[in-house]
Amino acid sequence: MYVNLKEMCQKAREGHYAIGHFNVNNLEWTQAILQAAEETKSPVILSSSEGAGKYMGGFNVVAAMVKALMESMKITVPVALHLDHGTYDGCLKCIRAGFSSIMFDGSKYDIEENKAKTSILVNAAHVNGLSIEAEVGAIGGEEDGVIGMGECADPKECAEIASLGVDILAAGIGNIHGKYPENWAGLQFNVLEEVQKATNGIPLVLHGGTGIPDDQIKKAISLGVSKINVNTDCQLVFADATRKYIEAGKDLEGKGFDPRKLLAPGKAAIVELVKKKMELFGSVGKA
Ligand code: 13P
Repeated sequence: MYVNLKEMCQKAREGHYAIGHFNVNNLEWTQAILQAAEETKSPVILSSSEGAGKYMGGFNVVAAMVKALMESMKITVPVALHLDHGTYDGCLKCIRAGFSSIMFDGSKYDIEENKAKTSILVNAAHVNGLSIEAEVGAIGGEEDGVIGMGECADPKECAEIASLGVDILAAGIGNIHGKYPENWAGLQFNVLEEVQKATNGIPLVLHGGTGIPDDQIKKAISLGVSKINVNTDCQLVFADATRKYIEAGKDLEGKGFDPRKLLAPGKAAIVELVKKKMELFGSVGKA
């Protein structure tokens, strides 16, 4: 079932679990995540950054690939296709390309400009049946070549953006993209609590899902986080499994160099990782 993410995230918020958002980079990634979702009967969000969309040949290609795979793999669980950290123009392109959801990352603008652009995109998304995520307070680390420091969102600004009608809200709470540094201070739960109180029950998003200790993930879910974004973890297990295959010399045995064999261990590693994340987030069986 190809859906937007409004209803799945609202249900998750009411049921005190979270939906996994997994970035896709190619065909194998997409197949692996869909397989894990179907086998665990878990709703799932597939997501493309602007850079990954370009890499795969454009947003039209991504949307067509996801929809065609859902059909050929006989996927029955709810699946949303979301734009991750979209620009204003990127959001409009994804609406046209047939995504079911967009994220407008207006965190680099001042709050008035973020509000003005978010407001236009809320309308454009909703008239076309898409859901929309907005962001307040930059998420730190590096995402698609964009570097930001870990930041905490201002709950008042979160309330202002939430009131524009966005379906879900990403608020910085000290989380960062990529691997966490040794001296990371952890998630700022006091900020998360204030954001939750200020935003009137809107489902919240936790970016930078790689490397956050399990107990902090669970606490964040208990405080209203209903969508958790994971990207780097999938990249790490994929690279690790591929390296092991090559270091074991398997690409030199028979037709081990065939990409269908070469990429198989990485793909299997993503299936396993995504299933584990879904268990941790509590979304297994919720489809
Ligand atoms: P990680 O790469 O840290 O898992 O973060 C992913 C993310 O937040 C995508 O928006």
